[in-house]
Amino acid sequence: MATEKVRLRIGSLAKAVLVTGQAYQDPKDALNEFVSNAADEYAEADRPGERIRVILRRKGRYPVVAVDDDGRGMTPDRLREVARNLFKSVKVDDERTLGEKAIGLLAFQQLGARCDIVSRVSGSSETWLLRLHRGAATAELRPEKRRARATPGTTVYVAELDREILRSITQRKVVDYLRRRRAAALEAGEYVIEVQEGRAVELVTPEQPEGIAVRLAPQRTLWGTIEFSLFVAPGKDGSRRVTVAGRAGTTIIDSICELDEFDTEPWNSGQVSGRVVFPGLQQTAGRRAILRDDNAYPLFTEAVRATEPALRAMCERVNEEVDRATADRLSDTLRRVFGAVAAGVAQRRRHRSGAAARGSQAGRSGSVARAITRLQPGDARSGPHLPIAVDRARPGSR
Ligand SMILES: Nc1ncnc2c1ncn2[C@@H]1O[C@H](COP(=O)(O)OP(=O)(O)O)[C@@H](O)[C@H]1O
Ligand SMILES: [Mg+2]
Repeated sequence: MATEKVRLRIGSLAKAVLVTGQAYQDPKDALNEFVSNAADEYAEADRPGERIRVILRRKGRYPVVAVDDDGRGMTPDRLREVARNLFKSVKVDDERTLGEKAIGLLAFQQLGARCDIVSRVSGSSETWLLRLHRGAATAELRPEKRRARATPGTTVYVAELDREILRSITQRKVVDYLRRRRAAALEAGEYVIEVQEGRAVELVTPEQPEGIAVRLAPQRTLWGTIEFSLFVAPGKDGSRRVTVAGRAGTTIIDSICELDEFDTEPWNSGQVSGRVVFPGLQQTAGRRAILRDDNAYPLFTEAVRATEPALRAMCERVNEEVDRATADRLSDTLRRVFGAVAAGVAQRRRHRSGAAARGSQAGRSGSVARAITRLQPGDARSGPHLPIAVDRARPGSR
């Protein structure tokens, strides 16, 4: 019997729309879709350094979150086309942009029940609105009067926000999130982001690297260049991590240790931070994991592995350096502690002869305490002598 070809069809468009727009791990990932669209717009228009604004209005009767750009905007025809071309993005082959699935707009459904895309193009005095509703298969297109834009660009308003969402999108949390997620692009000056709540406006600045830079040559591949920006710092700090960014400088995973292959030294040592950027890496639809494809992913793991010896060597060097510095500091401190003990003895003698000044004693006692607290308790070289020195120092300085 001949094989019948069955063409797949979506039985419930409304359901597909809803499910697609609620697949995010974190509501901030959903909000991030609109920041991506603004960033993509500036990249496509070849206008680096422009401003993206995230506006939070969580208080009041009608809470809303908006993402605003000064891009080229969309005509009513374009808005209609966007609504009619889900899963078919015009950005697919554009290396500069992040969008590719044409479902980012649907993300509003994880935040609120309504999404208003308000846009104006240059050369037109009209502002248009495309309104989407959560779980609905139709959208509305009409001229916008109340929120008419004075200049070209797009503002996306997400309204009827869920109560839980209001708690997770505070200004602080959104700034921290975007700083992490957009670090590479912010550092490259591709755009600036401001997060505004009421009168408070905060500029999202890129994370400052910590430690010594490890120079690593970029690796060219068929799927783009793998670039490393890695730093090694002394001491373990769990908040230090290496992020992985893909296309358009957007972070895909917050820590390379999320990949089993790299949940090892030196990556999980708490000493290494920075990022690996590889435009060839693809994100999964949930947008917080790397797609383990057969092309770019193996090249990525290989290139990252190859950096490990240099990083380990730097960790060792930094630790040795710190050990040496600690030893120097310790002997300096001990000298001061014992110096203080000697001074205390001398002072007691003077006190007995009635010539002591209390003020100067108090001062000295403070400096001894400071010298002691500066030594870390876990310091291998502090040895067993120190507590004794402390005990001796105390009575003398009283
Ligand atoms: N801020 C914006 N400025 C200009 N165009 C936009 C903006 N936001 C969305 N668009 C248009 O809407 C389309 C659909 O957006 P989205 O659903 O996020 O899909 P994708 O970004 O994957 O193409 C985009 O391809 C773009 O053409
Ligand atoms: Mg998008």
